[in-house]
Amino acid sequence: MKILGIETSCDETAAAVVENGTKVLTNVVASSVSLHQKTGGIIPEVAAREQLKFILPVIEKALGKKKIDALAVTVGPGLIGSLLVGVETAKTLAYVWKKPLIPVNHLQAHLYANWLEGKKPLFPAIGLVISGGHTDLVLLKNHGKIKWLGGTRDDAAGECFDKTARVLGLPYPGGPAIAKLAIKGNPQTYDLPRPMMNQENLDFSFSGLKTAVINLIKKEKRMKKADMAAGIQLAIAAVVAEKTLRAAEKHRVKSVLLAGGVAANQALRQQIATQMGKNFNLFVPSPLLCTDNAAYIASRAFFNYQPVAWQKIAADPGLSIETDVDAS
Ligand code: KG4
Ligand code: ZN
Repeated sequence: MKILGIETSCDETAAAVVENGTKVLTNVVASSVSLHQKTGGIIPEVAAREQLKFILPVIEKALGKKKIDALAVTVGPGLIGSLLVGVETAKTLAYVWKKPLIPVNHLQAHLYANWLEGKKPLFPAIGLVISGGHTDLVLLKNHGKIKWLGGTRDDAAGECFDKTARVLGLPYPGGPAIAKLAIKGNPQTYDLPRPMMNQENLDFSFSGLKTAVINLIKKEKRMKKADMAAGIQLAIAAVVAEKTLRAAEKHRVKSVLLAGGVAANQALRQQIATQMGKNFNLFVPSPLLCTDNAAYIASRAFFNYQPVAWQKIAADPGLSIETDVDAS
């Protein structure tokens, strides 16, 4: 079965065709990041207007001459204007082409990047979704059976990268910029906090780290930017690795799945792999499958194949990772 996935929840406009949930035939992503760099972050209205320009060419490019069996689209969470571009386009195409349409939860779908390459995960699994807007630890008992275990109480990990990068005068998005600079830095120079690391729960808090960085920058006359970048990266990686390992041990899972844009961070991947050791099967998607794309949307739809009449599908910006949008 070939599914056309459509993803427009944030600033990317993406379409992909995936066969049987695992084989990526095409994966097209148009980014408007250069526009957002001018403003140091995303202005939702600007993102949505760009997506309106990109959506049909991106779908045409992903489709080529391929015949598809169904469509899948991200319905949330995300920016409402951006989501609407994808959702309304998908509904229109499903109606015109008379094809089934599967609404998809973007956060759950991120985890399906782990079904798109090589070995496939086994259940039960721990999933860590670390993106620009979310930091969630979940237990996956099976396809479509997701239980939330913990998450951030304030800023998401990606938000912390983006906001501290901004204070350091680095371009948007902050994560890749900090990672690049950190290569030359010493992570031990600055004493940065590891919020909530030693608490038993599986929650996170990153706003304190952001504040610590801002205060240090104000105090230090000769800030060593690379050292600060390396320190921020290590602080985030250490907390995330510790809590993920704790979740895996507690639930005695067979696999641990990383997902989301921040999972593209090499230092964080390394830290988690080292801490997990050989005790767990760790799945880490290629960096290009970590950041927003439509291949994992199509994969999520295949493994949870529950089409919904297009008339009943609506964008929902506030969806949580546990919400089943196709359960109706
Ligand atoms: O999953 P994603 O592409 O979009 C959302 O759904 O939010 O994640 C975007 C986030 C941004 O905060 C960006 O700074 C971060 O992922 N990111 C990274 C890296 N690449 C992207 N953070 C750290 N290191 C990276 N290499
Ligand atoms: Zn995302």
